[in-house]
Amino acid sequence: MPELQRLRPGHAPAVLTFELANRSYFAASISDRGDEYFDQFAAQHSALLDEQEAGAGAYYVLVDEDGSVLGRFNLYRFSDGTAELGYRVAQDVAGRGVATATVRELCQLAAARHGLHTLRAATSHDNVASQQVLAKAGFVPVGPAGPADLGGKQGTWYQRDLDAG
Ligand SMILES: CC(C)(COP(=O)(O)OP(=O)(O)OC[C@H]1O[C@@H](n2cnc3c(N)ncnc32)[C@H](O)[C@@H]1OP(=O)(O)O)[C@@H](O)C(=O)NCCC(=O)NCCS
Repeated sequence: MPELQRLRPGHAPAVLTFELANRSYFAASISDRGDEYFDQFAAQHSALLDEQEAGAGAYYVLVDEDGSVLGRFNLYRFSDGTAELGYRVAQDVAGRGVATATVRELCQLAAARHGLHTLRAATSHDNVASQQVLAKAGFVPVGPAGPADLGGKQGTWYQRDLDAG
């Protein structure tokens, strides 16, 4: 069974493999991370761990039994009990409910482990898969998301009240 694990230093090689293998797949629906991210991956990974250590976010990887990363699920911009949610799932396991199940699991963790009350996520109008994931995980649309939120695209902010169960 794949396991949702808190990001740690030892995940670096598997995360890089995941990001490289799925780079063009992800870039079809969200902003590409850019060459610099890949060129300086070790520093990027450390910076993320420092942010996590400082309490600015909580970063998770879905790890398969063989140690490979199947997906990334991040809570970031913590502020007054609210955080933003971002996620990406490997093309190899697309369409099997991995994102939906893991976002549901992360909602529970967000409340129980991180004391969060509200999660927000922005997705573009053309990202139908992500809209489906959010809707099935109990998120509701709350307003427009603009190019600054979505790498130049128009879309919608979704929100889930975690205290509502
Ligand atoms: C969005 C993403 C996380 C979905 O991951 P996933 O594990 O394949 O998602 P799930 O299998 O849980 O559910 C996807 C839902 O969208 C539907 N779907 C998948 N691709 C679709 C498409 N191209 N058009 C319409 N619906 C689509 C699936 O049928 C499913 O809905 P259903 O259960 O009602 O049939 C994945 O596609 C991804 O990583 N994309 C790139 C990064 C990204 O867009 N992240 C979200 C940013 S807001």
